Amino acid sequence: MTSSPVLAHLQDIDRKHLLHPFTDHTAMRNEGSAFIQRADGVYIWDVDGKKFLDGMSGLWCVNVGYGRSELVEAAAQQMSELPFYNSFFSCTTSPTALLAQLLSEITPTGLSQVFFTNSGSEATDTALRLVLSYWQATGQPERRIFIGRQNGYHGSTIAAVGLGGMTYMHAQGSMAFPEIEHVQQPYHFGEGREMTPDAFGLQAARSLERKIEEIGAHRIAAFYAEPLQGAGGVIVPPSTYWPEIKRICAKHDILLVADEVICGFGRMGTWFGSDYYELTPDVLTMAKGISSGYLPIGAVMLSDKIADTLARHPGLLAHGFTYSGHPTACAVAARNIQIIRDEGLVERVASDIGPYFQASWATLADHPLVGEARGIGLLAAIELVQSKVDMTRFDPSLMPGKCLRQCATANGLVVRPIGANIVVSAPPLTITRDQVDELVTKLRKSLDDTARRLNPMFA
Ligand SMILES: Cc1ncc(COP(=O)(O)O)c(C=O)c1O
Repeated sequence: MTSSPVLAHLQDIDRKHLLHPFTDHTAMRNEGSAFIQRADGVYIWDVDGKKFLDGMSGLWCVNVGYGRSELVEAAAQQMSELPFYNSFFSCTTSPTALLAQLLSEITPTGLSQVFFTNSGSEATDTALRLVLSYWQATGQPERRIFIGRQNGYHGSTIAAVGLGGMTYMHAQGSMAFPEIEHVQQPYHFGEGREMTPDAFGLQAARSLERKIEEIGAHRIAAFYAEPLQGAGGVIVPPSTYWPEIKRICAKHDILLVADEVICGFGRMGTWFGSDYYELTPDVLTMAKGISSGYLPIGAVMLSDKIADTLARHPGLLAHGFTYSGHPTACAVAARNIQIIRDEGLVERVASDIGPYFQASWATLADHPLVGEARGIGLLAAIELVQSKVDMTRFDPSLMPGKCLRQCATANGLVVRPIGANIVVSAPPLTITRDQVDELVTKLRKSLDDTARRLNPMFA
């Protein structure tokens, strides 16, 4: 694709000076990077003025949509009064305390105390540190092993990478935090198609029980999981999975940490994925939708049992970030939550736009390239296959997911490939029915274009 002179100039600067997160720099430096300039509602525009429907809410985060003047005003007002003060050494600010109270109202019962971070990754590392401190404070310091899941994602900081189950990330020398084990993910299409979903859900859950028995419950700090794996490919667990995990955690007295960085703030038609699956986590992490991405902020919610134990322990709670509870980020997050409440966005996803989106998305299953179309609320994925007869995959070197993303971009739609074969979408909670139709129509056209590029038989 040729670039305008303005874009070519920016791409040149970018090539010389910027390392991008999760980017193949060789490919990007050849092809040129995308520069997004402005946004409104569910649409974004690049520097050349080309318009895209943002089927990814930025990076699963702009839940209330772009162009919200209320959030700009909340930031401006807080910045004029007090742009920053910290929460160290017994200080804090009113937006920080008020957001903490608001979060205790909307998170599942039993979670009422919060520790603020700047991102989901920091929330993960914070959760690990606080859980380890909790076990030390209760006289069980041998409880140090965290159990995560294969293909789980919990962030990019050094402990979060290890806890996540992305082997290509582990391969980049990042397993510095040693006391981590992984169990099977509930990925029916990829790992259990020869079984019924229910039987496979039980099998995946029981890999946790086997691991607990192998290690010994007395050495386990916590089981750590996303209610629904997002970055792993919108892996919808079979209905038997979470009830069995709950049974196992209760039987063996294992703490449950729910990573709600993607599932939280209405995306599944409930405030949190834990509500959707009726989980009562001991610890819950969040980021992204807490501020709809307008400012960076994350948080860790703790059960009273854990928080009170930490608070009663003599001396400093020696953990924190300069910007933990940043007043401007907290003011924007609180206003964002108020918008979600006032506009009934959670209910809208549960009973209106979520079912409409899922019904439209499901129609893609008849496309020759689509082996499965799945999702919940405003989270969805398709699995790309070369043949639907036996669900054979394309040769990974053809990169079908990337090819579909390129075709979608050319058609004015942003979706995201995951691995070689999965393509996902997570649009803003404010998307209208017409815009859902536009998204699915553009994706179907992009599937046709992909089929022609990958397989001349379809031409
Ligand atoms: C479930 C989950 N946890 C943690 C993270 C890390 O969050 P951040 O990128 O804000 O560090 C992500 C990011 O996508 C995520 O999806």
